[in-house]
Amino acid sequence: MTTISDFKPLKKDGARSRTLPGYVYHSSEIYEQEKTLIFDRVWQVVAHEGELANSGDYVTAEIAEEKIFVIRDDDGVLRAFYNVCQHRAHTLLTGTGNVNNTIICPYHAWAYTKSGALKASRYTKTLPDFDPAAFSLREIRLEIACGFVFVNQDPNALSIEETWPGFIDSVNEHVPWWSELSFHSRSDSDVNGQDDHASNWKVLAENCRECYHCAPAHPAFVDLVDMKRYKREYHDGWFLNQAPVNKHDNAAYTVLPTEPVQKAMFWHLWPNNEIGISPGERNLSSFRYYPSGPETMRMSSINAAVAGVGIGAECSNYMWNVLWPEDEGICDAVQQGLKSKGYRQGRFVMDGESGGESEQGVHEFQLQYAKVMRLPVEE
Ligand code: FES
Ligand SMILES: [Fe+2]
Repeated sequence: MTTISDFKPLKKDGARSRTLPGYVYHSSEIYEQEKTLIFDRVWQVVAHEGELANSGDYVTAEIAEEKIFVIRDDDGVLRAFYNVCQHRAHTLLTGTGNVNNTIICPYHAWAYTKSGALKASRYTKTLPDFDPAAFSLREIRLEIACGFVFVNQDPNALSIEETWPGFIDSVNEHVPWWSELSFHSRSDSDVNGQDDHASNWKVLAENCRECYHCAPAHPAFVDLVDMKRYKREYHDGWFLNQAPVNKHDNAAYTVLPTEPVQKAMFWHLWPNNEIGISPGERNLSSFRYYPSGPETMRMSSINAAVAGVGIGAECSNYMWNVLWPEDEGICDAVQQGLKSKGYRQGRFVMDGESGGESEQGVHEFQLQYAKVMRLPVEE
């Protein structure tokens, strides 16, 4: 049976290192370990505060097949819970919406308050030793950063500020107007019933962390932004990449000189969250990709924009109907290739002249991955 010891370990020096083997992108055993060692412990962006304005407003989300929901309770507190009934485990909520009074399980109608307490359970009055307090919903950690709601299943997790030190300050510095934005829209693979995407989540994580592929794969993107001024800043647990607009009239979409955002910026937050702005109207979006199996993933994207202005139609059309399909095609092809008997472990392109186009972000991601997954790393 294949194990990780059959492969060359990563090296700390990216310029000398082989990439991770294809095995970690399709092994069920690795995927189960990722659930425990990664997804049970990390912050996940799951909502925008603005879509949970009123008591009873809720959104559902998934974290590596674990279902959760976030709801605003009657005291105005946002809370996150596992999305599972304490009776016989039916899912409680789907999609997004408002629960009105109580959270009612569709199976046998047990009802929970918005704070997670069991309020009504039919025909349980005469049950011996039945204590409703023992059947409250199980709550998980929740924090808000830059208007976005993050959750974490680990009760002992470090705060967001400690997990990604400097990230919130960096958004405040570059996007000082973020608090003036309102919830605009969301797109979820599962909520919209779209098919799962046919690649391991790490394939997309790595693709998002380098722009070495931008010139060959995204011809319009490299016309939109100035690749010569494409910059990256690396920090503990996160990094920022940014590039100014190259041409107002370009192959992707028109950016008027009068529009307030004249650059693209993305904060990549370990392991699978991104927050970013795109050229055009004021906007701040989150993007999260997460596994639904060893070889499949789903995505969730949430957009905040100026109320009444929104996000330019040309911009979202380019992002979702051109740029994303280009990346999706790449990821699907790479996933297939990573399973080929003809593929050996590759190399990271870290040439000094590659500048913003280097694959340093991919190497950093794989080093962090090796650390948390307890894979060997060589000097
Ligand atoms: S599983 Fe929810 S009420 Fe029975
Ligand atoms: Fe891409």
